[in-house]
This record gives sequence, structure tokens and C-alpha cells, in this order.
Amino acid sequence: MNLDNEKRVAAMEAVKLIENGMIVGLGSGSTSAFMIEELGKMVANGLRIKGVPSSEATHDLAKKLGIPLVDLEEVDKIDINIDGADEFDPQLRLIKGGGGALLREKIVAHNSAYNVIIADSTKQVEKLGKFKLPIETIPFATPSILKELKGQGLNSEIRKKNNADYLTDQNNMIIDIDIYEFSDLDTLNIMLQNIPGIVETGLFLKSTDLVIVGKGDQTIKIHRKN
Ligand code: A5P
Repeated sequence: MNLDNEKRVAAMEAVKLIENGMIVGLGSGSTSAFMIEELGKMVANGLRIKGVPSSEATHDLAKKLGIPLVDLEEVDKIDINIDGADEFDPQLRLIKGGGGALLREKIVAHNSAYNVIIADSTKQVEKLGKFKLPIETIPFATPSILKELKGQGLNSEIRKKNNADYLTDQNNMIIDIDIYEFSDLDTLNIMLQNIPGIVETGLFLKSTDLVIVGKGDQTIKIHRKN
């Protein structure tokens, strides 16, 4: 299975939804990078859009490719947001944040009229949670949050990078939690969001309108059922 090819075909299908004049949310991660590269080519060929990046890495890539960018505060709404995911389930609920960009990704998704997820076929699961759930935490509170989660039986660890604490674009930390045993994800999400110092969780439970998944050279579209 060539995962990069699946990511690319999903990205190529998603950019067909973009029209002149749109404000476009630009996701983060390797699948989104394929989409941003394609968008760069479309802009070079005359497409007029403005992008709202969901991370510093995406900002830098889009800028390098000549995609005009705007800050969230400068737009009334984002017409379409295209982003990746670490897992999605049959209800189009997501785990995101493997790349650490979950906070801005969730803000961009919340402010978007239409949310598209692009993914390779390994991201499609029956039950969320084989991928550990990332949450973004304020450094001051992180050790106590870790203790609290462990006290509640949630196996959790602070994300590290090069032997140091991983820091997000907002200089916060990430805790990765094993949530596989949980089936009531709405309750879990509310419980996590109620702990002071947890800024946001990587559970995206209701925002997704469409998933485009690459399967070999083909794509499959899964629309949200209302
Ligand atoms: C970034 O924080 C994540 O939410 C990404 O969207 C997610 O990790 C998907 O990344 P890939 O496209 O690299 O798998």
C-alpha cells in the first residue's frame, strides 16, 4: 500500500471543491501538505483564494508556494476547510493532533462553513482510540493533569521530542491519552475540557461534513449523515 499516493489522490480530489474567491482553511500534517502543494499550483495558474493556515508549518509552506494568506480575524467566515486526521470513524468523528496542531485546527474548523477531511485508508477505523488522543495543556498545569488522568484510570503520557517536552505553536504541551476503552466520547470530551489547564482536545466530534479517503488510486467520499 502506497500511503503517500493515497494521501495525494485524496488531496487532489478535495481541491476540486475550491472555487475562485473562497477563503480556505489550510490544515496541517503530511496529507494537508499534498493539498497545499496542489493549491500552490492552482494559484500560480490564476486561482484567486485566500488561505487561513492552522499551524506555523502550514503558514510557512503556503507562503513559500505563493498562496495569499489572511488571519482569522480578517475574515467573516472560512468557506471551506481541508485538513487531515489521525483517525476517523463511521460517524465522521476524528482524533487529531498527531502533529501537535490540534488547537488551531479546531479553531479553524469551528469557523468554517464546510469541513473536509482528507486521509489515507489506514485512518479509517470502526472505533476511535488505537491512536492515542492528544490534548493540549498549559505547562504549569501539565504534571497535575497527568496525575488526575492517571487517577481516573486513563493511561497518559507527556509527549516528548528530542528528549525534551514537545511544545506546540502556542508553547503549550501535549499529553497523549489511551482512550480505546471509552465508548461515550461526548462525555469523555466534556470531562477533559472541564479540567483547568486543558486548553483543547484532539476529539473532533461534530465538525466534519465530508471525508475523502484514498484507496489505492481511487478515492471514496463519505458524507456526514444528518
Ligand atoms: C496535526 O496536528 C494533525 O491533526 C494532523 O491533521 C494529523 O496528524 C494528520 O496528519 P497526517 O496527514 O500527516 O497523517
